[in-house]
Amino acid sequence: MSFITIRNLHASAEGREILKGVDLDIEKGEVFGLLGPNGHGKSTLLSCLMGNPRYEITEGSIKVDGTEIVGLGPDEISKLGVFYCFQNPPEVQGVVSMDFYKAAINAHREKRISLPEFYSELKGAYRAAGLPEEMMERHLNEGFSGGEKKRNEVLQMLLLKPRVAMLDEIDSGLDVDAIRSVGENINTLGQQGTTFIIVSHYARLFEEIHPTRAAVIIQGRVALTGGPELIQRVDTEGYGFLRDEYGIDISRGEKRETIEDPFAAAMRGRK
Ligand SMILES: Nc1ncnc2c1ncn2[C@@H]1O[C@H](COP(=O)(O)OP(=O)(O)O)[C@@H](O)[C@H]1O
Ligand SMILES: [Mg+2]
Repeated sequence: MSFITIRNLHASAEGREILKGVDLDIEKGEVFGLLGPNGHGKSTLLSCLMGNPRYEITEGSIKVDGTEIVGLGPDEISKLGVFYCFQNPPEVQGVVSMDFYKAAINAHREKRISLPEFYSELKGAYRAAGLPEEMMERHLNEGFSGGEKKRNEVLQMLLLKPRVAMLDEIDSGLDVDAIRSVGENINTLGQQGTTFIIVSHYARLFEEIHPTRAAVIIQGRVALTGGPELIQRVDTEGYGFLRDEYGIDISRGEKRETIEDPFAAAMRGRK
């Protein structure tokens, strides 16, 4: 059995099925790329791996290092060493960043971390994430720029040193230097044995981190798996080749109602 084994995973949100039978195997120490057009279920899959209660798993299994995690809450999954870098990190008013990090670290250890050790870890993580130390006193993500929020997610990953780290479009909105910094941090943790699942639309980040394999998610299923060359191909060609060469339907499954922008409608009425 693989380190992460996902079998026939079906998941719904608000009564709509989003994942329709995902099968995926990821080995320990892999840097696994998760690709796919917008809205096909990548974030939903990672949310299910983290036990997000907004998604109902109706069928299937997810095992991490032999432990079934379907049915476990995010806190329990987190204690197994799974970490999720949010695509859109939430702002948490009234919670001071460093207090939150200390609580998070302590929740993952038997004995509480000593203050000197905590400060030394924290300062090291701020340096590595490329954020000023003063930010440790600010409320979590409150008023942070898009790039700062992303770096702050990396900071938390460095502090928690997860066994499995899932990064969801961590590179979107980051400048080239920031992407390089994220890549270096991924490599550092990777050398310590962390397994990565990385969602990204661009080859740029992957060029920094030597991915092992990749899968394309289409309509809530794994449509294709391959090596690093698959990432390169998607980056240069998009997803059209899935349809042309493999006959995979890459449309968005369900038809959505188009809701007309009332402003545009009013403008047209005036003409
Ligand atoms: N909490 C939710 N409630 C309702 N629909 C959702 C929810 N989360 C995701 N979806 C829908 O599920 C589909 C897949 O979303 P997502 O997993 O975010 O896609 P991706 O990350 O591949 O862009 C989209 O159509 C999205 O609108
Ligand atoms: Mg997403």
